[in-house]
Amino acid sequence: MEPVFLTLADTVGAARRRSAKWAADDPDVLPLTVAELDVALAPPVADALAAAVAASDTGYSWAVPGLGRAWAGFAARRWGWAVDPAAVTAVPDVEVGVVEVLRALGARGRPVAFSPPVYPPFWAWVAVVGAVACEVPLARDPWRLDLAALDRAFAEHRPAAYLLCSPQNPVGRVHEAAELAELVALAGRHGVPLVVDEIHSPLTLPGAVHTPLLTVPGAADVAVSVLSASKAFNLSGLTCAAVVSGSPAGRAVVDRLPPDLTSRTGHLGVLASVAALEHGDAWLDGLLAALAARFDQLGDLLARHLPEVGWTRPEATYLAWLDVSALPGDPVEAFLRRGRVALQDGARFGGPGFARLNAGTGPDVLAEAVARMAAALR
Ligand SMILES: Cc1ncc(COP(=O)(O)O)c(C=O)c1O
Repeated sequence: MEPVFLTLADTVGAARRRSAKWAADDPDVLPLTVAELDVALAPPVADALAAAVAASDTGYSWAVPGLGRAWAGFAARRWGWAVDPAAVTAVPDVEVGVVEVLRALGARGRPVAFSPPVYPPFWAWVAVVGAVACEVPLARDPWRLDLAALDRAFAEHRPAAYLLCSPQNPVGRVHEAAELAELVALAGRHGVPLVVDEIHSPLTLPGAVHTPLLTVPGAADVAVSVLSASKAFNLSGLTCAAVVSGSPAGRAVVDRLPPDLTSRTGHLGVLASVAALEHGDAWLDGLLAALAARFDQLGDLLARHLPEVGWTRPEATYLAWLDVSALPGDPVEAFLRRGRVALQDGARFGGPGFARLNAGTGPDVLAEAVARMAAALR
């Protein structure tokens, strides 16, 4: 099933979307920023939403047992992960899920470790629970967990939790099973609970293999996972995510979450997520193939127009992490001011000298954006 991407004509005038990605910049700017996907909804999702609107079925959500069953089916088919539907707790979004899990782990006033470059709200989430950010940067070339540094940080700082981003936004790294096994061993040895944000896992690209953290032997005793269909199926505005546990210890953490979280999850989000997870496989496979082609295109465009920009092709996500440190001045500012193309400055992710480019768009939009970026530097 072929996903239908926005074209350049859809980026101007009345056709321009009104979501955060499209509204935040001036109307002549091509936004390659916020992690929204420029696709038409997967048909099963569009049908489910249209049916709900036709029936004025827009009340509060009721996620049990549908959301848990849908995740269990998806996890088994895509990753061979046996999820107990009863161990899936609906939460409004990943942010709320992670923040409330950190609170449940008693993180207030204590360090919480994570590994930049990473999704900027990780700092905000730690701050909002009154914890202290403990940065243990990724190792480079290739980007990967710095297990020796994590060992030292766990021993020295005794963090209340380690917050893992898997796959990692913005570098697109799919952490290997052996790395995750070592992380779980460290967590067990030092008594550090793991919270894994796996929102990008459905976006693992052809050739890479995502290992759900809770499938690593021993992980379920020390970790809980936070998942959502929202990145892969572009459902962020509908709000639906899930906290998944896999052991009595994990369940005990989830049992301490505020009870009304589940009912604050969006009803349309639950309906759309269940439709996506149960009937979206063929569309998702088409999307992943299209994103692989988009990264081929991006590699060609960069080599031709911006050879000074370095990048490592991501193994997951639709995000490219560009090394712009060889460019003069402030390239992100120049791209925006002179090129009318918005990227996100890597400094926000803990990666100064880098920029994040959202390649989840149509081929003509991407080609136009890179041409404008190159022109802006001339
Ligand atoms: C790693 C990561 N976690 C969480 C989110 C946000 O998820 P939510 O909107 O469900 O809070 C994003 C959004 O891009 C993300 O990249």
